Amino acid sequence: SDPSSSRRGAFIVFEGLDRCGKSTQVSKLVERLEREGRKARLQKFPDRTTAIGKMIDAYLQSKAEMDDHAIHLLFSANRWECAAAIKKDLESGITVIADRYAFSGIAFSAAKGLPFDFCLQPDTSLPLPDLTLYLTLPQEVASQRSQFGEERYETISMQQATREQFALVAQQVTSRHGESKWTQVDASGTIEQVADRIWGLVGEIADGIEGDIGRLWV
Ligand code: TMP
Ligand code: MG
Repeated sequence: SDPSSSRRGAFIVFEGLDRCGKSTQVSKLVERLEREGRKARLQKFPDRTTAIGKMIDAYLQSKAEMDDHAIHLLFSANRWECAAAIKKDLESGITVIADRYAFSGIAFSAAKGLPFDFCLQPDTSLPLPDLTLYLTLPQEVASQRSQFGEERYETISMQQATREQFALVAQQVTSRHGESKWTQVDASGTIEQVADRIWGLVGEIADGIEGDIGRLWV
């Protein structure tokens, strides 16, 4: 009998500042899991394909203005509209890999000056990631990447402030949900080097998880 058949899929989240290489690594991990015969699905946040996602996209491209609280709630609503599909996939044994999640939501909004507790609340009770990989890269490296500066938050001062908030988010995750739920990853080096580093950290949770899906901040 196959012990993995009774397990649900793992929920793995990638987080980090802009242009740290997250999206590249998320794709590489999904490919690698599929090559090894596991079912995996990539979930991008913000998901710009939905009606809410299109409003977020316009805001990020500075084609629309929005109150800071309102855009914060839209980012969260964008996660809630995807939550049922994430749970369904996890329960059917699919590994779900998210490119950003609620932790970006908190860090970026708090960096703009919204109260940390306000930023945390709307995502309460969303599916809890089994592992969050927080990719770190020196700011001078990220800033030199070709597309840095294209979207609203891609300024040095905003990235710096967000970095500080991510440290507070990491404290919240580990104190409320345990040290094993948040791992910092050095994202410097070649794409392959970083991919191998990540593969080593994902390890056996890619074989599936026993136990229920947790709830964020609960
Ligand atoms: P992206 O480049 O990964 O598509 O993300 C777009 C920007 O939106 C990025 O600067 C991070 C920011 N962001 C938030 O401010 N709140 C959120 O909840 C998410 C998911 C992203
Ligand atoms: Mg971007």
